[in-house]
Amino acid sequence: MSSSTISVDGKSVELPVKEGTIGPSVVDISKLYGQTGMFTYDPGFTSTAATESKITYIDGDKGILLYRGYPIDQLAEHGDFLETCYLLLYGELPTAAQKADFDYRVTRHTMVHDQMNRFFTGFRRDAHPMAIMVACVGALSAFYHDSTDISDPHQRMIASMRMIAKMPTLAAMAYKYSIGQPFVYPQNGLDYTSNFLRMCFAVPAEEYKVNPVLSRALDRIFILHADHEQNASTSTVRLAGSSGANPFACIAAGIACLWGPAHGGANEAALKMLEEIGTPDRIPEYIAKAKDKNDPFRLMGFGHRVYKNYDPRARIMQKTTHEVLNELGIKDDPLLDVAVELEQIALKDEYFVEKKLYPNIDFYSGITLKAMGFPTSMFTVLFALARTVGWIAQWSEMIEDPSQRIGRPRQLYTGSPERDYVTVAQRG
Ligand code: CMC
Repeated sequence: MSSSTISVDGKSVELPVKEGTIGPSVVDISKLYGQTGMFTYDPGFTSTAATESKITYIDGDKGILLYRGYPIDQLAEHGDFLETCYLLLYGELPTAAQKADFDYRVTRHTMVHDQMNRFFTGFRRDAHPMAIMVACVGALSAFYHDSTDISDPHQRMIASMRMIAKMPTLAAMAYKYSIGQPFVYPQNGLDYTSNFLRMCFAVPAEEYKVNPVLSRALDRIFILHADHEQNASTSTVRLAGSSGANPFACIAAGIACLWGPAHGGANEAALKMLEEIGTPDRIPEYIAKAKDKNDPFRLMGFGHRVYKNYDPRARIMQKTTHEVLNELGIKDDPLLDVAVELEQIALKDEYFVEKKLYPNIDFYSGITLKAMGFPTSMFTVLFALARTVGWIAQWSEMIEDPSQRIGRPRQLYTGSPERDYVTVAQRG
């Protein structure tokens, strides 16, 4: 193992350097405080690896995303979402028998406890579905007591299956509730994504035929969103899990974090922005706003903390968008016109080129989901559904790591030094 030497207050400290399979090495600073009495400072974790992981690899400069070593475009082109789930959870692609068994196990957990229905009636009809998801996924821990003992590998596995299987059911229920339609129960004969589409769009009064092109497109969207190494929501799940909290509670914490517009809420925000722009002739006005330092406006769907090159998921997403629009016979979608034009202009604009701000996956996913019939408020829910497997895989990896300890960041304190309490009467 190599090492790195730093000098702190004139004292030389040798720190071990750990090497990964690919990607940057890390300086192990875990003993730094003990040796120097100093912490490191890195708000936003821009230079800090919070964990070691074998699941997902991103090279942001080259635009590479690998799940367990497999490039995202190959998985999205040739595989299906449940195969990706298996890969993320177990580390290898399944054999035909393993895949059949895994698919069977997931589809046998799709129903939720009937009492869950009552949770929904407690919400206003106009509740944001992400609010419902945070509550309902956390509440699963109140229903499945036989899978909350995190020290038991069997219970951990059952909890994982339950969450992958029940997320589509809960997501579809949140949608149905918002539009005042009856819940549609899962049908286990259908594949994972077709079943989800049916639970969202079927009504008891009519036959529903799943469109295979839309089902395949949505399945691909799920693959693209399944994991993304140590992003904000995944780190939230890991931090929540590090205290020993049950997996349902940890995933609910991840969903809460995903909700924000800088993370999972970006596809909703990107679509709203395209709607607000409305026509291509208004694009320069919005580009100018995005570049104005005094204007908080940002081009939603552009930029990424890690990708400083084209987001590899955005490329696949763009193709999927066109497939869906063709299938649905949407020839002239004004939003797509705005999106294509905006992308072209931004890719050539000095500000965006210099700051390496490329379109991210959310730039196109909103248009696709809208064309499929999902309201914007459901976009982040679909992201949460797909990311659940990534959260669980990362949570399991952490729990199985013998060196795992509670996560406890430190701080640079800049508040008042110690002072004595003053009674109200004495306060000026
Ligand atoms: N429009 C205009 N300027 C931008 C944008 C944007 N979308 N994104 C970053 N910048 C500028 C920013 O103002 C800053 O400029 P300066 O250096 O002059 O102060 C510079 O680029 C660096 O930005 P940053 O905020 O330091 O970068 P970050 O890594 O902290 O933020 C981000 C990454 C994704 C939060 C940000 O690019 C953003 O807010 N994008 C819009 C929201 C979005 O599309 N989010 C989806 C992310 S992909 C889905 C996911 O993985 O969850």
